[in-house]
Amino acid sequence: MIVHGKPSRTVWLHPSQPSIIQVIDQRHLPFAWVIEDLSTVDQVATAIKDMHIRGAGCIGAVAGYGMYLAAIEASHDATPDAHLDRSAQKLVATRPTAVNLAWAVHRQLRALADQPDPAQKISTALTIATEIADEDVACCRAIGQHGLALIRDIAARKAPGEPVRILTHCNAGWLAFVDYGSATAPIYTAFEQGIPLHIWVDETRPRSQGARLTAWELGQHGVPHAIIPDNSGGHLMQHGLVDMVIVGSDRTTRCGDVANKIGTYLKALAARDNGVPFYVALPSSTLDWTMRDGVQEIPVEERDATEITHVEGWDGHRVTTVRVVPENSPAINHGFDVTPARLVTGLITERGISPASEEGLLQLYPEHRTE
Ligand code: MRU
Repeated sequence: MIVHGKPSRTVWLHPSQPSIIQVIDQRHLPFAWVIEDLSTVDQVATAIKDMHIRGAGCIGAVAGYGMYLAAIEASHDATPDAHLDRSAQKLVATRPTAVNLAWAVHRQLRALADQPDPAQKISTALTIATEIADEDVACCRAIGQHGLALIRDIAARKAPGEPVRILTHCNAGWLAFVDYGSATAPIYTAFEQGIPLHIWVDETRPRSQGARLTAWELGQHGVPHAIIPDNSGGHLMQHGLVDMVIVGSDRTTRCGDVANKIGTYLKALAARDNGVPFYVALPSSTLDWTMRDGVQEIPVEERDATEITHVEGWDGHRVTTVRVVPENSPAINHGFDVTPARLVTGLITERGISPASEEGLLQLYPEHRTE
């Protein structure tokens, strides 16, 4: 994506120090553009856990590079394989819901398993990390092309110049991946093709990824949008102001149940009640083929209550944090919810658009058939 006139990914190798990776520290957006250097596995684990970087695809890619740093550290360790295993466990434990994290770490562990030479391990780990990042970009580009067809269909039924109105939740944009994003890839592709668009951006409390990140991204790109409170979607749909919903996913089961940022399920219910198509855009690294029933099986992260009790913002001079609830009221902060497959119109993947069902997914990914 172009930021401040220059192309940028969300994670890359330091241009002159190859044992350092660099990420955009998303905690500072939209107020400041801060690049963070990460040179140890511990720093990578903290960056994921404390959400310097976030979003399923980005978490996976950064964890892939984290395992490259683990291979460098292991080369100085008396028990290199044990160090790699410890690093893998540490990274996987940082955030439980987005499956891309474990997927990337285990891909690295498999590639490194039968490589006794430390230098070879380091170079293999870098190759795999780069592959994970490049594949993520390619998948998001392909999702953009497949999703474009859906937007084009809606645009064709409208009067010339009338925008296609798309509602999205959280940030499934390029900041949540390495580039392009999942839910935003069809939006950016349609925008580049000159299709008039208007994006409803759910604020996405408590961390406001929609208001802070998606709105910033769309603004950088010049895509018309408006931030709405999380509770507005149903009202807009009842009044015919939403043509489609596109969201991302942190983990989707083989039967098509979708874990995504808390509040997604309510949007899917409202969409069903109002006949609005509800699409989920995801690369195959987000599919969990080991799980079937998302509500029962997907681990839902619970984060610190201060994310609810306190709000961060710009006071005109600096970023500041204020309490917005009574001093002693407890708060509960579930990070994600699960939208059952029956509420999902379709899954936009890098291989095409699938019904949200086991058979639909297996048509696109036959290598996961078990019988
Ligand atoms: O807690 P976050 O910001 O990591 O959650 C991100 C989301 O829920 C996104 O919608 C999701 O990752 C899908 S896009 C990768």
